[in-house]
Amino acid sequence: MINLFKKIKSVINKRYLRTPGVEYLIKNMDNEKIKRDHINFWLNCSRKNKNFKKIFFTQNEKADNELSFDIKNQELELNDEMLNSLAYNGLIIFKNILPNNERDEIIEYFNELKINRSIKKKWEKGPIVTNAFNAAHEMFGLTSIKNFKTLDSISKKFSKEIYGKIVEPTVEFRYLKMGEKFESEKTKGNTFIHTDRFLPHFKIFYTPFEITEYDAPLQYLLSSHKINDQYIKFFTNTKTFDETDEMFKKFKFKKKIVLVPSNSLYVAFTNGFHKRSQFKAKTERSMVFLQYVENFNKIDYLIS
Ligand SMILES: [Fe+2]
Repeated sequence: MINLFKKIKSVINKRYLRTPGVEYLIKNMDNEKIKRDHINFWLNCSRKNKNFKKIFFTQNEKADNELSFDIKNQELELNDEMLNSLAYNGLIIFKNILPNNERDEIIEYFNELKINRSIKKKWEKGPIVTNAFNAAHEMFGLTSIKNFKTLDSISKKFSKEIYGKIVEPTVEFRYLKMGEKFESEKTKGNTFIHTDRFLPHFKIFYTPFEITEYDAPLQYLLSSHKINDQYIKFFTNTKTFDETDEMFKKFKFKKKIVLVPSNSLYVAFTNGFHKRSQFKAKTERSMVFLQYVENFNKIDYLIS
């Protein structure tokens, strides 16, 4: 019964309450007024959320912003230095984030993904092959945050700081293995610098293994999540929502390539500009994605 309820809720969420993305803007590509009104309406709603206001709508003073913090396998306590750095940069990185037993547990989930079979782990969906990439093989599985105690506690802390309330994330496991050809061409929405949506938005990424320059690391344009006149103008006028747009050349953001050791977690505001680098070698990548878009939806932005 609970499962059925969860399914119905998920369908309603996806179909009717989904956070406004860029689809509406694409549909009304030639009508600037409609686009501007739409963007302003939703941004005005989200500006009322005081956490959003501080993080996305306020231009912070540049502080001594460390992007990366070593947690030394202790429990994460978010302090002002971390929160100010995140609000300024739109990105924060934590090393040695999970206790060893939880990292091992996550690796066991990936082991089931690799063999494409569910044995002991509690999957809600999958493991399945996605066929999302030409040059790579991707396995996907969905599970619950409740299976990971520390990750759950970290997720709660960030959703409280960013959304102002606790929001349960969807937990996606993605295992990518490159074929012989590597990745020679860029693809839209992946390896072009792009933005996911115009509303305040974030994702959490966890990797049990090291990510080197060969493993398609995330690239993030620091501070590009800040919603100001230039940002609104871009979304109102762009046709591509990515780096191929003429307007993009005017932006002067500093790029950060997220290279991390094993057992690292990072948080990125993906309404800002980002991309996945191209794979440069015959390699594999195991990444856990925590996403909030399904459980923080239209209604939450409206009444924020
Ligand atoms: Fe993206």
